[in-house]
Amino acid sequence: MPACSECLHARHLASSRASSSKRSLCSSSRSSKPQLAKQLQSRADRLQQHAAASSSSSSSSSAVAASPFSIDIQGLQLSLGPDGNKRRILKSCDLKVQRGSLHMLLGPNGCGKSTLLRVLGGLLYPDSGLVQTDEPSGFVFQNPDHQVVMPTVAADVAFGLGRYVLPEQQVRDAVEVALQLVNMQQFMHRATHTLSGGQRQRVAIAGALAEDPKLLLLDELTTFLDVEDQFGVLEAVRAVTHARRDVTAVWVTHRFEELAYADAASYMEDGRVVFTGSPDQMKARLRAMGANGIS
Ligand SMILES: Nc1ncnc2c1ncn2[C@@H]1O[C@H](COP(=O)(O)OP(=O)(O)O)[C@@H](O)[C@H]1O
Ligand SMILES: [Mg+2]
Repeated sequence: MPACSECLHARHLASSRASSSKRSLCSSSRSSKPQLAKQLQSRADRLQQHAAASSSSSSSSSAVAASPFSIDIQGLQLSLGPDGNKRRILKSCDLKVQRGSLHMLLGPNGCGKSTLLRVLGGLLYPDSGLVQTDEPSGFVFQNPDHQVVMPTVAADVAFGLGRYVLPEQQVRDAVEVALQLVNMQQFMHRATHTLSGGQRQRVAIAGALAEDPKLLLLDELTTFLDVEDQFGVLEAVRAVTHARRDVTAVWVTHRFEELAYADAASYMEDGRVVFTGSPDQMKARLRAMGANGIS
């Protein structure tokens, strides 16, 4: 079974960073095992409530923290590269993202989108600036073949939970909840190699969701997908943020048609966020920049 050590490492690191890790003015810390067990239980309870009220459009009952922003970044600077030859990649970068939204991040290749995502997930630490984010976070990357590594869907979604000592029933519940959130519950016992690319991406997202993240970091997930799968994955992510108003998704993309699914979007250039607005405002800006194919 192919496994990209970098992606797996990142998936684990992102969701297991040490509680002692310090980012400037970090808002909260990683859960301990008993806390995770409690979170998973409370999420199972919430899902039951959600299922009971599934026809209602009201949001989940989970508490929403005082700030409306799940991400608040100000003046973020980050240099990367070998010692003595470091290059400034993020240059006084600012970004605010509303909690419970699907926020898209666009910009030319090399402008720093993936680097910013890694800072948001705690995989990279800023040289200076303020970084406040909801935690924990979960990453999903471009290539599902590098992330979906277990023989069955259920085993893959449970994979990340394996490092906690959790009662079996709790793991089963967490897997079920995560698969329901991405509308893949009917595939629970399927062999992962029989799934389409989009279904595999939804399994990868469920794997991240199983650990009850508050921030989903999604880096060009639809690059390898056909149109049907592309929109299926987008639908799933939007459904997660709408069903769970305390979960925020940051979606990096270069496919402008995906803006139709966004609550808001930001555009990056040369290490900075240069524009944030509604999807329509973003489309207007892209048109003004001469981008093709903006409907
Ligand atoms: N570990 C690294 N060391 C040095 N330069 C890096 C490293 N990671 C990324 N970069 C550089 O940072 C810039 C931004 O990269 P990236 O965040 O991947 O851009 P994007 O995702 O927008 O295409 C690029 O010029 C890239 O070469
Ligand atoms: Mg990138």
